[in-house]
Amino acid sequence: MKQLNRREFLRLSSLGFGSAVVLNVLGGCAGFTSDRSFETNAQFTHGVASGDPLSTKIIVWTRAISPDGEHATVTVQLALDESFNQPVYEKGLLSTNAERDFTLKFDVINLEPDTTYYYRFLSKDNISPIGRTRTLPVGSVETVKLLTVSCSYYSAGYFNVYKEAAKVENVNAAIHLGDYIYEYGPGTYADEDAVAMNRVMQPEKEIIELDEYRQRYAQTRSDEDCQRFHAAHPLIAIWDDHEVTNDAWNDGAENHSIKEGEFSARRLAALKAYAEWMPIRPPVDKDITSIQRSFIFGDLVNLSLIDTRLAKREQQLSYSTFTEKETGAFDSSAFYSELNRTERELIGKESLETLERSFYYPTKWHVLAQQVLMGEMHLPAPIVSQQISNADYGNLAYKAQTDPDKLTKQEKNILNSPNIPYNLDAWDGYPAERERVLQLYKKYDANLVVLSGDTHNAWMNELFLGQWKIGHEFACSSVTSPGLEKYINTTAEDETGTVQALSGLQYCNLVERGFMTISFTPSDVIAEWVFVSTVKDQNYHVLTDRTHSVRIASHT
Ligand SMILES: [Fe+2]
Repeated sequence: MKQLNRREFLRLSSLGFGSAVVLNVLGGCAGFTSDRSFETNAQFTHGVASGDPLSTKIIVWTRAISPDGEHATVTVQLALDESFNQPVYEKGLLSTNAERDFTLKFDVINLEPDTTYYYRFLSKDNISPIGRTRTLPVGSVETVKLLTVSCSYYSAGYFNVYKEAAKVENVNAAIHLGDYIYEYGPGTYADEDAVAMNRVMQPEKEIIELDEYRQRYAQTRSDEDCQRFHAAHPLIAIWDDHEVTNDAWNDGAENHSIKEGEFSARRLAALKAYAEWMPIRPPVDKDITSIQRSFIFGDLVNLSLIDTRLAKREQQLSYSTFTEKETGAFDSSAFYSELNRTERELIGKESLETLERSFYYPTKWHVLAQQVLMGEMHLPAPIVSQQISNADYGNLAYKAQTDPDKLTKQEKNILNSPNIPYNLDAWDGYPAERERVLQLYKKYDANLVVLSGDTHNAWMNELFLGQWKIGHEFACSSVTSPGLEKYINTTAEDETGTVQALSGLQYCNLVERGFMTISFTPSDVIAEWVFVSTVKDQNYHVLTDRTHSVRIASHT
């Protein structure tokens, strides 16, 4: 028999823990060996998923329902090949029950770094679909490829974007940047085609209680393309607001009233369902209320995930609070004094300290994955207040260039209005906190890449601190949720003008749904946005002429 090296010895030693079996594949002699006679013939109703990969550990997930509706008992198996001819890991007697909505998560340990594994679950005669996953690389790493998605609103369209994202090869990990589900009931938001698509929200009401959140996850995960996406890549997920409710902050939300009960109870119910259904590992013990964590890809990428939504966020400002009801006069000095208040928090002091600790481990790239847009999006006030459309403002600006003498007084007033933050829910509503984060990356002279979701459109921004360029932000479009094209009728023709009008903005797609890949090497990063022709029909194609790539060189 082959001499065991230290790693193999440690792996075999793990046989002493629980009933995990780490199989000696190199000898080629072992098969899967667990005693499976206790299993319950559970049905695997919602596919499989994996997530939060580390160099030797990975979370695997499934949902198993036994015929009697009581607890289900299953076995998980991992192999190096899709046919399971090269088995490497088996653990039996895993169980789940109604207490956790029959979801089952297991942290597989003692795996090899940078290795692709196939996994499946068994319960007597039933076998789950097969998932593919991958551990993180260690040491000197030449390339890392991530894929980002956000905003997968079931009733707004088919998951064509998930289907395409599942086809992408050589992905180290996919990142869901939030709004995996939406809380709305039918008829509230962007579900006008839901009946025709047979995608009406379940339950047919706004979700508030634990069981309702669970039903919404079950419906979303029943979608075959969603399952395909999960089976193809390990997922690193963070929540945004709609996993609880619209425009949430740390102790309230725009879409929550006291008539719906205490916000803290709703939030806890929502996060319990999230913990059950998402293949994530709580960063601190069993605390399901935290998602701040990090993943190290050798010496190349440090990926930090932060919570801009529920952890410390102060309530968003609203222009209406500073606008006189009768006269419509806007108190800009009161507004700016509150907006720029230095104590205004979005992620909080502890998060900043955790981010600072990430520099103890040197990597070429520092990637900050989070929910809302960090780049400045300041637009003319008449557009933000919807006094004038984008297109009409453009026409006025053209008139000012070509025929300035014919501008009326009112038109001149519109053109002379200041630029103000477009979205106070984004980092633009928390400028002091944004400055603290950017100062940190400046202090360590890091190659900063920010990954964002939330807006339902695609963007790339240069991030500035005064005259200093600190890094770049790459924001993906949504899986289904509609973007600016629906609300202010933007078209592809508006994109060049928008990029020219906004300082820092380098690219945008204001029309289509899609995902983004981002590949890192020691010398550069390449982002690629991919879009689909429609989400309203399962007959669709990739809009190859709208695929867009950007390359950024490392500055250190
Ligand atoms: Fe969203």
